[in-house]
Amino acid sequence: MNLGRQFFSPNHAKASNIHGRFPTSSASSSTPASNRSEAAASILISYCSTPDLHSPGTSGWRTRVRRNENMEKLQNDYLFPQIEMRKMAHIEQYPDAKLISLGIGNTTQPVPEIVASAMAEHSWGLSTVERYSGYGPEQGNEALRKAIAEKVYGGLGIKHTEVFISDGAQSDISRIQARPKVTVAVQDPSFPAYIDTAVIMGQTDGGNNNIVNEDGSTRAAAAGGGKSGKNIEYMKCNAENGFFPDLSRTSRTDIIFFCSPNNPTGNAASREQLKQLVDFAMKNGSIIVYDAAYSAFIGEEADDCPRSIFEIPGAHQVAIEISSFSKFAGFTGVRLGWTVVPEELLFSNGEPLIKDFNRIVTTCFNGASNIAQAGGLACLTTPEGLEAIRELVGYYKENAKILMETFSWLGLRAYGGQNSPYVWVHFPGKTSWDVFDEILEKAHIVTVPGSGFGPSGEGFIRVSSFAHREHIIEASNRLKNLL
Ligand SMILES: Cc1ncc(COP(=O)(O)O)c(C=O)c1O
Repeated sequence: MNLGRQFFSPNHAKASNIHGRFPTSSASSSTPASNRSEAAASILISYCSTPDLHSPGTSGWRTRVRRNENMEKLQNDYLFPQIEMRKMAHIEQYPDAKLISLGIGNTTQPVPEIVASAMAEHSWGLSTVERYSGYGPEQGNEALRKAIAEKVYGGLGIKHTEVFISDGAQSDISRIQARPKVTVAVQDPSFPAYIDTAVIMGQTDGGNNNIVNEDGSTRAAAAGGGKSGKNIEYMKCNAENGFFPDLSRTSRTDIIFFCSPNNPTGNAASREQLKQLVDFAMKNGSIIVYDAAYSAFIGEEADDCPRSIFEIPGAHQVAIEISSFSKFAGFTGVRLGWTVVPEELLFSNGEPLIKDFNRIVTTCFNGASNIAQAGGLACLTTPEGLEAIRELVGYYKENAKILMETFSWLGLRAYGGQNSPYVWVHFPGKTSWDVFDEILEKAHIVTVPGSGFGPSGEGFIRVSSFAHREHIIEASNRLKNLL
């Protein structure tokens, strides 16, 4: 049987064409209400009985499926597509310019050989009857869960059954939000995925396009960083407050997203600050979603900066931690991460959150690639793997050091760059997009405008150290000569 031929045959297309799948408008009026509400419950789409199937102004076919209105609340000019657009226009204008990208935090250095070999070996094994395996446990392979519990959280009281292997941190940022209409706090500036996924998931239903400020006032969602939704609170984190929010002026929310080392500011929170955060969450009965995607960049010498929220007493009762192999092992394309959900973390009715998270993972996810997991295991369980990770992280940190020195030489205030791959540079009196455009125009370097990470990012740019060393050196020379 040739399934491919059958699937692509004209008969198959006819049998399942769009007229066949969706009712006519007269049929739709007799669709039982229960069916309609079932469809409306879908996160992505909902049913409506639009009689006009032709979409004006487009050559497409207009279905009767109503768009998820939350999508309309998202910023239209999402940060990275906007950067890409300006980059492409620049390339068109200067086809011979050698563009250097220090924008998106994409890794450039190869996956360590020992890790790639482990993945290749596993992959070859799949071609044999003896070593073939299909679906694995949705929560991840036990060996990897144990390795993470032991190597990353050794001594912190994390059981391997509390570690859920994912296909990267980004997926779990949205998966953990499969419970709509909670209130959410995020650092300002912060990684855009927290707010955008919160909006898509409907946390802002009934939103009034306002963001609640630290002082309780509301502000219309602004272009270039503002996001919609009255249920989302920005916690200002800037140089003046040591990149840590004034919690005495922060209202209670159900969820607090907190990222350390922070993307974009590069700041790693101190033990004292995280203690305050955990106490705040305990007092308010909130849950901290701690994003530790860059924790491997916290140096051995920085023992004042915890690598995990679970180093803080009480965190097991109020926090989950999301992390990733992307940045420390070059797995941005391989895709592997994890989330720790402690058993002690309970909902208001006493049910453990881990029970629901397990249910969501087993429903919405079929487990991370077993090849990627073999790579992850090699990272953590072989001395060569651990050494290779150290070298990889060290390489990017050296790049960050060069960038920090460059901006300091230029007389600019730059933050981060020490326990983080990101350098956060202040250009007082200028807008982020103006600085972005100027650096692109004069130095042919792509950065990220800080305002795209939240209102407090205005006047800043983020410069990424994820680049080849020669590009960092070249960028440094260009910046010194041209700015
Ligand atoms: C703070 C933060 N969290 C999560 C992610 C997503 O990581 P992953 O590649 O594991 O999905 C990124 C990616 O840049 C990030 O900066």
